[in-house]
Parts: sequence; structure tokens; C-alpha cells
Amino acid sequence: MDEKPPKSHGRYRIAASLKPRDLMEPQSVRGAWTARIVTLFPDAFPGTLGLSLTGKALDAGLWALEPVDLRPFGEGKHRNVDDTPAGGGAGMVLRADVVDRALSAASVATPVDRARWPVVYLSPRGRPFDQATARRWAAAEGMTLLCGRFEGVDQRVLDHWRIEEVSLGDFVLTGGEIAAQAMIDATVRLIPGVLGNQASTEEESFSDGLLEHPQYTRPQVWEGREIPAVLTGGNHGEVAKWRRAEAERLTRERRPDLWDRWLRTKG
Ligand SMILES: C[S@@+](CC[C@H](N)C(=O)[O-])C[C@H]1O[C@@H](n2cnc3c(N)ncnc32)[C@H](O)[C@@H]1O
Repeated sequence: MDEKPPKSHGRYRIAASLKPRDLMEPQSVRGAWTARIVTLFPDAFPGTLGLSLTGKALDAGLWALEPVDLRPFGEGKHRNVDDTPAGGGAGMVLRADVVDRALSAASVATPVDRARWPVVYLSPRGRPFDQATARRWAAAEGMTLLCGRFEGVDQRVLDHWRIEEVSLGDFVLTGGEIAAQAMIDATVRLIPGVLGNQASTEEESFSDGLLEHPQYTRPQVWEGREIPAVLTGGNHGEVAKWRRAEAERLTRERRPDLWDRWLRTKG
């Protein structure tokens, strides 16, 4: 059967095809911010990143996702990617030579300058991820994320690649994939156009060093609790003042570390 002529759809050309969508080549959009993810579980992506605003932006080509399967870079008939830890102990460690081959493949056609293309290992030993890191990554052209599994990755390949180790928090996950998704989500929502409403990232928690003020919506009264009157009074100046005071109160009460930093940067 003849295929219909392609029709324009945003930055892609879409044509009716008999080929199942899953078997088609991944769409890559020239110039779009791109996350390349080295993982033993490429099927974990896009995961939640394929939903809602990040998913729509992904479909629209505002950013791109390129999982790199670690398995084919493994050794021997069984494509082994791991081995027992030197010095003994429980678990397995991802091999330096295998990870190096995958990182080399993931680095094809990417800038060498790490400011333009960060290369990151998700790791509980890393520097804690924060909004400033998300902003820095969003300003790059894309990034490579290495997801560990088992006991982690042979140190030599991390040193060789001068990799940036970043942690999702002080706890241990089974693998780096969930951490990668969380960090990519926080990053791509800062890319212009992804949220549709840029103002919302300017006002939310951490954007100016404070936690966000409380939010309310209808109904006006719920379970005997009212929306604070100032928010429904129509005075925008008073609303802004109330929100600012609440943001300061919440930050002071819940995050003395952020509050101290905010006071220092303010004055
Ligand atoms: C079971 S963990 C390895 C933990 C490692 N043996 C340790 O104690 O530091 C397996 C993989 O999950 C990922 N991972 C675990 N916790 C993480 C966290 N808090 N942040 C980012 N990645 C994490 C890393 O990629 C890690 O290589």
C-alpha cells in the first residue's frame, strides 16, 4: 500500500506508516537538549519523563532522550558487564573496560567541553543534586548520565573520564535509573517552552533561594478550613507581600541551612 505524503507536525515530519512505531528509528531533533543515558535497563526510559509536560515536550522535540544499552558492550558470548570486587566482599562491580566502551559510544558527536556537555555518574557518594545544578545542566547542549547497578562502577573508569558524581540524596537506590529520571525532569522543565509557562519556574521553591509559599485553590472552604482572605481579596500587592512572608517563614522553620545561605547572599 502507498504511504500517505508526510504532513508537518511541529519540528517533525509525520507520515502514516505500516511500520510499528516501536520499531522505527528514534526521532532525533537537531539542536534539541539531549540526555544520553548509559544503562543496563534502557526500557526504564522515558518512564515518567514520557508523561505530562515533559512527555509532550519530548514528543514536540523540545528535548531528546537517547538511552545507550550497556549490555552490548559486555564481554564474551554472554556480554558480561560485571565482575567480583577486587579485595573480596559482596556483590558485583561494573567493569571499567565495558563502561568505557559505552561511554565512548555515548560521547560520539558531543562537545568535549564539560560546560557544554556534562558527563555524570549517578552515585550516592556524589555531590547532592540541587536546583543550581539543574540550571547549569539546562544551559548546556545536553549531557551523558551513567547509571550504576550492583555495588557500583570500577573507580578507574570514573577517574579516566573525569566524571562528575552526583547524588539524589543520602540514601541508596538499587540503580541509577530513578535518580537519572529525577534529575532529567528537574533539568528539562527549565528548558524554555517545556512548561509552557516560564513564570512558574521563576516563582517556585529554590528559584530565589527560598521554599515556595503555600498554594490554595477552590473550594473556598474545605473541612472548615478557609483560604487565607488576602489571596481572594484582589489586592496583588498584598498577595505578593503575604507570599513572600510565608516563603521566608517556611524556609526559616524547615530549612535553616537554606535560610542562613539566603540571609548571607542577601546582605
Ligand atoms: C546499590 S547502588 C551502589 C551503592 C554503593 N555500593 C555505595 O554504597 O555507595 C547501585 C547504583 O545505584 C545508583 N544509586 C544508588 N543510590 C543513589 C543515589 N542516592 N543517588 C544517585 N544514584 C544512586 C548508583 O548509580 C549506584 O552505582
